[in-house]
Order: sequence, then structure tokens, then C-alpha cells
Amino acid sequence: MSLSDRLPLALSGGLVLPEGRIAVLGARAGDDLSDLPQDALVIESTNAPDHAALTAAGRETVVSATGAFAAAIVVLPRAKALARARLAHAATLAPLVIVDGQKTDGVDSLLKDLRQRGTVDGVLSKAHGKIFWGAPGDLSDWAAPEAQKVEGGWITAPGVFSADGIDPGSAMLAEALPQKLGAHVADLGSGWGYLAHHVLARQGVARVDLVEADHAAHLCAQANLADAGDRARFHWADATTWGTPRSVDAVVMNPPFHTGRAAEPALGQAFIRNAARILRPSGTLWLVANRHLPYEMDLRDHFALVDEVAGDTRYKVVQARKPRTQRRG
Ligand SMILES: C[S@@+](CC[C@H](N)C(=O)[O-])C[C@H]1O[C@@H](n2cnc3c(N)ncnc32)[C@H](O)[C@@H]1O
Repeated sequence: MSLSDRLPLALSGGLVLPEGRIAVLGARAGDDLSDLPQDALVIESTNAPDHAALTAAGRETVVSATGAFAAAIVVLPRAKALARARLAHAATLAPLVIVDGQKTDGVDSLLKDLRQRGTVDGVLSKAHGKIFWGAPGDLSDWAAPEAQKVEGGWITAPGVFSADGIDPGSAMLAEALPQKLGAHVADLGSGWGYLAHHVLARQGVARVDLVEADHAAHLCAQANLADAGDRARFHWADATTWGTPRSVDAVVMNPPFHTGRAAEPALGQAFIRNAARILRPSGTLWLVANRHLPYEMDLRDHFALVDEVAGDTRYKVVQARKPRTQRRG
């Protein structure tokens, strides 16, 4: 359930949109925005696949909205720090802020907080979520720093994967990587760059392509690997379709398993398919995943040799060789 479910309800239930430009912060590619004045919309999207799809659909899409708007619509993300930062940004853009979110994204506690900060003019509940609107007041103390340093000196940002420190699964994979990986490695879903950092420390690695959908994580990785020079190439892109003119020797990944709110192994499965496609025939995939995730069938469909090389009750580290899908062209 999303903005598409609650916005029409709000528009027929008391929400009056002022004349002028409307910013929509965090809209997803599938959101139905047809109830809004089409020519007035600017969409802020920091997710590469959504950004590309919205742009392809003819929407004015930006990474960060700037300027003055008549209203700003905030689609709440799950991470609280990111949600607050998005609201603080909206409050700088427009006098009227409309907030849409699921209960599981903390919409109730944000509504409570915002009632104490400014005025809330309307609230409607539907489909395990709420939409509310009003003048938020000064939220500048919620504005997130662009980046933060965590233990080990790593730069992360609110809302990125493992923003508070190294993910234990990724640490297990880094530990399991062999000394020799080949000259050209791709890190699919590279986050803030932890795995790529370890890949770059391996013998003979001339180049790592970091492919990441989240713009904030993509920027953090650039900061974390600034010393790597042109050995590290950064792509703000969809790792399920990203390609390279020359096949790679190895792929490393800790694939995502959430699209939005629901656990969604299909995304990790698409990562595995693309890894097989971009690897050279003698190349190897190194993957870590939560043990319960059902990747085995896809691994065996796309690789002739699949071995679990490390793990515990929570994670499995898999080495997959002999990709069956040969790249075309
Ligand atoms: C489990 S995290 C691993 C991050 C990093 N490799 C690490 O080990 O810390 C998965 C990453 O995939 C990214 N991601 C999700 N969907 C993606 C897509 N379609 N294309 C590229 N990256 C994606 C997420 O933003 C997240 O950073």
C-alpha cells in the first residue's frame, strides 16, 4: 500500500493543493501520481532504477529538489533518520507538507512529533498507513549531515545499508575472499564500499566496478575509496541490468533482499543472473546472504559449480563458478 492508495482519499477528504510547483520526495516508479497536476510536478528520487524509470516516463526527476514549491509531498522511508531528514528538507521547500507512510515506517510517531512542531490540518488512515498534511514548522534540527563517520573511519549516511558500521555478513565474505581474484572485479550493490575496499587490497586487482542504486551510498563509497584513483569506478545504476563491454574475472556481492518493505528474494536472484551474464567463462561469483534466502536454485541454474565456503547459523558464503549464461556481443 502506498501514496497511490491514500492521496486520492486525502484530495477528496479536505486536502486542497495550492497553485504552483509540487515536489514529491521519494516517489517510487510505480506510484500513481495521476491525481496531481502533471505539469507542476518535480520528483526527487535517489534510487537509480526508480529515477531512470520516472525520467523515461517523462517526469522531471532530480536527485535533490531545490527552490521554492507550493507543496512538498514526502513518501516516508523506513529508516527514521532518513525520514526525519526528508521531512526537514521538505520543510525548507514548501509551506505545505503532505506526509504519506505505513505504520511500519513509523508514520504514527512522526505525526505525534510533528503535532508538537507545527500545525497538522488533516489526517486520514487507510491500508495500515496514514496521510497527513500541514505546516511543519522549523525542522532544521532534523536535517541530516550529508555523511557521518562510523567505527573504523568509514563514511556512511542516514538510510544507507549498514549505516552504523560494517555488516557482519559482508565481513564474513571479505574474510573468505581468496588472495587472487583476477584483474577486473565487479561489486554489485556495493553500498558504501566495504567489500570493494577489501577487493582492492587483493593481489593483482587492477579495477573494481562498484554498482549501487542508492545515491547516498554511491557518494559514500566515492569518499571511502578516494585513495583508489581510477582502480575504482563508481556507477549509480541498477545492478540487475548493469553491463560492461569486457567480461569481469570476479563478482562480489551481498545482495539486497528488500524492495521497499517486503522481503523480496527476486531482487537477489536478479543480481545472481546478472553476475553470471557479466562474468567471463572462467570467472567466479562470491556471494554472502542470510542463510534462509532461497538462492540455491538460481545459483545452480546459472553456475555449473556452486560451493558453500564459509558460514554460520545466520549467513552463508557461496563461491559459484563456471557461469552457464555466456554474455552476448
Ligand atoms: C545488503 S547491501 C550490501 C552493501 C555492501 N556491498 C556491503 O557489503 O556493505 C545491498 C546493497 O544493494 C543496493 N541495491 C539495492 N537494489 C539495487 C539495485 N537494483 N541495483 C544496485 N544496487 C542495489 C542497496 O542500496 C544496498 O546498498
